[in-house]
Amino acid sequence: TDLAPFIRGLPKAELHLHIEGSLEPEQMFEFARRNRVALPFNTVEEVRAAYAFSNLQDFLDIYYQGAGVLLVEDDFRDLALAYFRRVAADGCRHVELFFDPQTHTDRGIPFSVVAEGLLAGISEAERTLGVTSSLILCFLRHLDEDAAIATLKAAEPYLDRIQGVGLDSSEVGHPPSKFARVFKAARERGLKLVAHAGEEGPPEYVWEALDVLHVDRIDHGNRALEDAALVKRLAAEGMTLTVCPLSNLKLCVVDDLKAHPLKRMLDLGLRATINSDDPAYFGGYLGQNWIEVAEALSLTRADLVMLAKNSFTGSFLPPAVVRRHL
Ligand code: HPA
Ligand code: ZN
Repeated sequence: TDLAPFIRGLPKAELHLHIEGSLEPEQMFEFARRNRVALPFNTVEEVRAAYAFSNLQDFLDIYYQGAGVLLVEDDFRDLALAYFRRVAADGCRHVELFFDPQTHTDRGIPFSVVAEGLLAGISEAERTLGVTSSLILCFLRHLDEDAAIATLKAAEPYLDRIQGVGLDSSEVGHPPSKFARVFKAARERGLKLVAHAGEEGPPEYVWEALDVLHVDRIDHGNRALEDAALVKRLAAEGMTLTVCPLSNLKLCVVDDLKAHPLKRMLDLGLRATINSDDPAYFGGYLGQNWIEVAEALSLTRADLVMLAKNSFTGSFLPPAVVRRHL
């Protein structure tokens, strides 16, 4: 509809994007070929057919398998650059992107290979596309806290080029409090803190992310709406929620985009933002998430302007830079 050009023209930031989740099937075959990695699929169609998920874990199993084709620095650089090209076309000006180092170090890829590749993609994107970005290192919550602590240690030489840490992977059974020590260590290093909470997990996990981890943002946060006191707290603090509409649909967090809580969040005074999460797996990049949720929820132009503004005020950009984007 005519909303598409309006949305494309709005300066936007993306605050919830897993770079490993931007690996398109075509690219998976390309990396597999050049790295001589065997794939359990023969065609792009077969890969896409496997992307029918009924929950978060279904997706994670195939997402970790896909990441196995990423071996050398150039793979990480090329992956990041392909993503930046796509979102630049959507009118995205700034990205705070997640990466999962343990997915790679656990298969013998050095942390430095991942970091150098992504940093090369980041500087090239800034130079050639004018899209700025920063890195958020995510700990895999299905692994233990000692592994997260070892990862923070491996990241040490790069911490001046890493904006913050996050927490992702299988949520239920792995509450934020499991990572209290490593988040405290990260906070003492001056890193920003975020955590996935309330995607599949209960409101208690959102409380823990706030009170135990002291996060600066909540990733997803959908289930916070089940707890009125929590909603009040999030609104009072101006806490940003990085909401991911097409992800929520594909992972069955919502049954229908028309039932998505984004509009309710805005009406409750929550600082919600629109993001793509894992665009290659969930059926759309940033712009597509905006368009589909705007149509499903009949968002007004005022809502969309608010959401675009939230994406910058919720970012970790310095206030003076945020003001330039508004
Ligand atoms: N949730 C948890 N872990 C993830 C996600 C998500 O949506 N995407 C990639 N890792
Ligand atoms: Zn996510």
